[in-house]
Amino acid sequence: MVDNIKWHSGEINKAAREELLGQQGMVLWFTGLSGSGKSTIAVEVEKELYRRGKACYRLDGDNLRFGLNKDLGFTAEDREENIRRIGEVAALFADAGLITLASFISPYKEGREAARQAAGVDNFKEIYVKADVETCAERDPKGLYDKAKKGEIENFTGISAPYEEPENPDLIVDTMSLSLEESVELVLELL
Ligand code: PPS
Repeated sequence: MVDNIKWHSGEINKAAREELLGQQGMVLWFTGLSGSGKSTIAVEVEKELYRRGKACYRLDGDNLRFGLNKDLGFTAEDREENIRRIGEVAALFADAGLITLASFISPYKEGREAARQAAGVDNFKEIYVKADVETCAERDPKGLYDKAKKGEIENFTGISAPYEEPENPDLIVDTMSLSLEESVELVLELL
């Protein structure tokens, strides 16, 4: 599949784009169960960075499945492909000089590690948005846990599909004990 193709470098590189923008292009990768708070935190971090004059872009699980990944479901294979594509997209955005906020369950360690490698380890922060399945099921903001428990949704993360906890994330944001403001502050301190 990679026969007969050759990388074509331009003359403007990541460093030049970063100089223009006055920031480091990077990926903040939020991983955690559905309902853990990934998207909520990412939205608030984006607002604060924008207020500070930073160029950001947010990639979100539900949203990407309306377009780029509309052909994918929630089997293990489809999730792997989902995260593979998003990892590549996030890496491109970071290369463009943007602070890229990616919120995906991303249940498999291997997929998250591939995303880190795609962006380059110095440009990537893995943020584990931690809330246990009982807490997320209690919050159940979209009513999905209720449906999953009734068997109305297959392969639901934490109920009938696995979630591999990060072993060595750059940051753990425990949303069972932290407020939204405290969670946002912790993420901003990472930068
Ligand atoms: S993954 O595992 O990273 O490929 O998932 P992701 O692209 O982040 O999509 C998660 C959102 O899809 C909705 N949803 C499900 N989640 C988990 N399991 C199943 N079976 C499922 N079906 C639909 C759900 O709204 C997730 O959004 P969040 O924001 O995580 O709650």
